[in-house]
Amino acid sequence: MQTKLQELEKRGLAEIDSAKDLNSLQEIEVKYLGRKSELSEIMHGLKDLSPEEKRIIGPLSNATKTTITQALSNKRSGMEAEKIRQQLSTEFFDLTYPGKPHEIGHIHPLSQVQAEVENIFSDMGFAIMDGPEVESEYYNFEGLNIPADHPARDMQDTFFLKDKSEAKHGRLVLRTHTSPVQIRTMEKYGAPLRVIMPGRVFRYEATDASHDTTFYQVEGLLIDKHISLAHLKGVMEEFLTRLFGQPSARREGEAVRPSEGGLGLVGPKPTANIKVRFRPGYFPFVEPGLELDFSCLLCNEKGCSVCKRTGWLEFMGAGMVHPNVLKAGGIDPKEYQGWAFGFGLTRLVMMRYGIDDIRLLQSGDLRFLRQF
Ligand code: PHE
Repeated sequence: MQTKLQELEKRGLAEIDSAKDLNSLQEIEVKYLGRKSELSEIMHGLKDLSPEEKRIIGPLSNATKTTITQALSNKRSGMEAEKIRQQLSTEFFDLTYPGKPHEIGHIHPLSQVQAEVENIFSDMGFAIMDGPEVESEYYNFEGLNIPADHPARDMQDTFFLKDKSEAKHGRLVLRTHTSPVQIRTMEKYGAPLRVIMPGRVFRYEATDASHDTTFYQVEGLLIDKHISLAHLKGVMEEFLTRLFGQPSARREGEAVRPSEGGLGLVGPKPTANIKVRFRPGYFPFVEPGLELDFSCLLCNEKGCSVCKRTGWLEFMGAGMVHPNVLKAGGIDPKEYQGWAFGFGLTRLVMMRYGIDDIRLLQSGDLRFLRQF
């Protein structure tokens, strides 16, 4: 038994000595110290030995275990130290190396132009309002003088939601225009009012280069005593001249390049103030209703390809707020009157930057967005 232990120890130490890596060391540990190892068997069998044998074999087997354990641990730390030494000699970490710069994000062109529009109207004393994108039929249609059986309902193809709304307000829809916010604002604040209401609107229609199911509008509403369409003309001429006459939105602190025109990617700054003209138009929530065009920025009414040789660009629908709409908003039409307008912010962005496909704006395509 004694020689067996000595032989065991010798064999173990030799194997440990010639082990090549941590894995084989692990195998050796199992083989010599594991539950099924010879040493374990010997130690297990101690209780069956005579007292004299026990006195010799007991301490001896313990000593063997300690020696092997110690040898394993020495070899292991040697191997680990060697591994680190190797890493240090082959790998190099330069603490002074500059880090990767964070990529700077981009303000979406729609948000840029929306901010510019809001700034100009704020300067003219307009407040900015928000309304829900999921609307009731009442606010989107009835309240705006578009009764359920009115043919104008067909003018807009609408997304209806499955959920039922309460009896008074009808079904839920994705708003087809920002005009419902007119009524919400009148109900909430009464007259007088001077607000713009930018937001996202939805129409159920096939998409192509100039139509998308989702786009942005800006609604305007001015209510007071003695308000006429002359005020609308003045406000819109001022707004458009400021919008196209000023350099496109830039990051704070960014230098103004001398060549920079107010039109962003399209071309030069308009040389003259922008003019607007009215044409008759029909919307059930205004009377009279009209369409507003503005003078072409590129040719100054001389006629070019952008304005299709007409000298004018179609811009928005507008009109004097219909008395029924004022009533729906809780405002007395005998005391107050005013005008409302609605233009496509998305189309304005496309005009401003010369974008020829509306779908690019919501594509999330970074190759497109990085240009702004
Ligand atoms: N809501 C109309 C549209 O979406 C635009 C409009 C707004 C017309 C206000 C007149 C007055 O086309």
